[in-house]
Amino acid sequence: MTQLLDKHGRTINYLRLAITDRCNLRCQYCMPEIGNKFVERKQLLTFKEMYRLVRVLSGLGVNKVRLTGGEPFVRTDFMNFLEMLSFNNNLDEINITTNGVLLPKYLQEIEKLSKIKSINLSLDTLKTHRFAAITRQDSFSKVMESFEFLKSSEKLKLKLNFVVQSEVNTDEIIDFIELTKNENIAVRFIEEMPFNGIGQKDFNQLWDFKTILTHIQQHYSHINKIDSAKSSTSVNFKIPNYKGTFGIIPAFTRTICNDCNRIRITSTGMFKNCLFDEGVFSVRDFIRNGASDDDLKELFINTVHHKPENGFVAEQNRKNNSISESMSNIGG
Ligand code: GTP
Ligand code: 5AD
Ligand code: SF4
Repeated sequence: MTQLLDKHGRTINYLRLAITDRCNLRCQYCMPEIGNKFVERKQLLTFKEMYRLVRVLSGLGVNKVRLTGGEPFVRTDFMNFLEMLSFNNNLDEINITTNGVLLPKYLQEIEKLSKIKSINLSLDTLKTHRFAAITRQDSFSKVMESFEFLKSSEKLKLKLNFVVQSEVNTDEIIDFIELTKNENIAVRFIEEMPFNGIGQKDFNQLWDFKTILTHIQQHYSHINKIDSAKSSTSVNFKIPNYKGTFGIIPAFTRTICNDCNRIRITSTGMFKNCLFDEGVFSVRDFIRNGASDDDLKELFINTVHHKPENGFVAEQNRKNNSISESMSNIGG
């Protein structure tokens, strides 16, 4: 099978596909309270178009797909799409990143889909009031319902995504590690990035990988580093005798790029070689102008070849503007 290879010797087998740019939360680190630009529906890829793109990419060695947003569950018929996608035999894993608000009513159905192995749930606090302040919505109880279900699911692996926000939730880092004491879950602390729809913020104040790890080391006398997949976004650890694990994702300091195996397609069909690039071309326009599967294959192979070496190079290559777009518009 022809594979997607870049000129830095990396093989791409992981697609992050954004289902919509819309979200039912308004997280401070992701978008402004009002005024984030959401596109008209006709600008979004249709599910048929997404299905086709995944089919073509999975014929080029992509065997793992992560569905992101915005919030994937706000798009009507998302469950049908999930089911359809599950019939693709070239895919080993279909995973979802979600804020969990709409999840409770779908969880039992999701458990039945064998290719869905894990759910990454965004959760930045265990305090109701703080949740409302961060997300500007009052949906904490729904997210906790999803959390409780997933914690006890034998089938679905749960990863909690905790964006570390200076002066907002750093006092809960240890509380989140304590969640791993009796539960087999993975907590991941993510460096905050300027993908917030505004951009400005003092990123010198950032709680980076080192700061987060030092903070944790001050609390625990023993922390074991554990082996992770080469392409893992998180560097992972375990407190001895705790059931679960925790990890740190150097999303902004970008020390993970050497082993990057990812490409992205945004909800409007923009192909991204790197989280930090501006989008390389519109796959949506290409297919709406009549591209065949072979045209698509050729385009993917050629584009991936030029994947930037790392997120810093990708950022430098941006022509229009510095990073400020909302994570909900790019899919994370
Ligand atoms: P797993 O496949 O379960 O390891 O998930 P993931 O970490 O790849 O995906 P998830 O959607 O949970 O993302 C967690 C955080 O990692 C988010 O803040 C993403 O923006 C960030 N992230 C994911 N992929 C990349 C990447 O390629 N580069 C950078 N810099 N950050 C990434
Ligand atoms: N910086 C870091 N992570 C972010 N996410 C959303 N916005 C940001 C940001 N500005 C996280 C969400 C979600 C994942 C896809 O990305 O919390 O878990
Ligand atoms: Fe891959 Fe870009 Fe993320 Fe680096 S910053 S890991 S190259 S997507």
